[in-house]
Amino acid sequence: MKAEEFAGRREQLMRMVGADGIAILPSAPVRTRSRDVEYRYRQDSDFFYLTGFAEPESVAVLVPGRPGGEFVLFCRERDQEKELWDGGRAGPAGAVSTFGADDAFPIDDIDDILPGLIESCTRVYYTMGMYSDFDSRIAEWINALRASASRSAHTPHEFVALDHLLHDMRLYKSRAEISAMRRAAKIAGKAHERAMGVIRPGLFEYEVEAEFRHEFRRNNAWVSYSPIVGAGRNSCTLHYVENNCQMQDGDLLLIDAGCELDYYASDITRTLPVSGRFSPEQKAVYEIVLDAQLAAIELTRAGRHWNEPHDAAVQVITKGLKKLGLLEGSVERLISDGAYQRFFMHRTGHWLGMDVHDVGDYKVADQWRLLEPGMVTTVEPGIYIAASSDVPSRFHNIGVRIEDDVLVTSNGADVLSKGLAKAPEDIEALMSS
Ligand code: GLY
Ligand code: MN
Ligand code: MN
Repeated sequence: MKAEEFAGRREQLMRMVGADGIAILPSAPVRTRSRDVEYRYRQDSDFFYLTGFAEPESVAVLVPGRPGGEFVLFCRERDQEKELWDGGRAGPAGAVSTFGADDAFPIDDIDDILPGLIESCTRVYYTMGMYSDFDSRIAEWINALRASASRSAHTPHEFVALDHLLHDMRLYKSRAEISAMRRAAKIAGKAHERAMGVIRPGLFEYEVEAEFRHEFRRNNAWVSYSPIVGAGRNSCTLHYVENNCQMQDGDLLLIDAGCELDYYASDITRTLPVSGRFSPEQKAVYEIVLDAQLAAIELTRAGRHWNEPHDAAVQVITKGLKKLGLLEGSVERLISDGAYQRFFMHRTGHWLGMDVHDVGDYKVADQWRLLEPGMVTTVEPGIYIAASSDVPSRFHNIGVRIEDDVLVTSNGADVLSKGLAKAPEDIEALMSS
């Protein structure tokens, strides 16, 4: 992502914040995995969206109209000894020269400098409740200002939820963002293809997961969430991430795996027959889910509201389950009383972007939001038939989900993950080649 992209975002946000406001964003904290081992650091999405700065212990401040510079970055100082162990740091000078800060200070000086920046503003834009330690520091700075002898009419008297503004911006993807998301989808698609080439009875689920991790890393991407690789009964466990069972002939295998590239995620699911051929029951269920997905994608277009694709998927799935004899009664009734939810218990999609379950409201003023060009959503209906005495055994342990990443454009859906097989015959052909 180019420096101008980040600068443009800051400008857009600052126009909304206005000359008497200040926006403050902390970086994500470093998190401990176990004892003295840390997780690989991942910058906070909002912070990165505005700065492109990936270091911990940083604070970004936007002060529209400040004569000394509108974009102020607090960050760690250069330190030869520490950099030897942990890698390079930009330091305040690098924050200015490389990251476009107008002004930058050592993070250790923030107590001395930030209150002075806040003091001249009436509104503080800040996302409360995300990082409690930083929430407390904000409260301390404000309280100190209020208590100080120099307090004046300028002391801020209004807090505004920064995430409301920022998350609405993040919902509409720019060309550069769409391009990053296309690349993330492409890599994940290749990884799914790679997996289709190795799946066979006797393999363990983790061996399939390994194919994804290999393909992601060789493209400089990381998993964007823990991959779900569930065969047989595991295909019916929505958040199955153990991935430690051996796959049997006759199992269906549900793989939900996507990657993050340059801070943008893909999220793709395919469901495959471990033997390479779907059984008649597996295929029947699969085709219902595929029809539901195609119907939902068709409605993922500008002018439709957020829930229309889901409604379409629910219709197709409920009709299909009735036809298979798994539900009885009128389709209308099965939908209105939620009977279909026994087999399709999640929503058809979610916003996708820097976060897998990306930010942005699904409703505006209590109404489903209209889809607009630039929004990206997943479309991922499913049917999950766990083993149960009131379901014919030939349907047991059939869990199917098909998930693609879809960009809303001014003329219909643009499937970012297109090109990856999903028709049953295409999957069977790929698996036998
Ligand atoms: N992989 C998470 C989801 O599909 O929502
Ligand atoms: Mn998803
Ligand atoms: Mn998924």
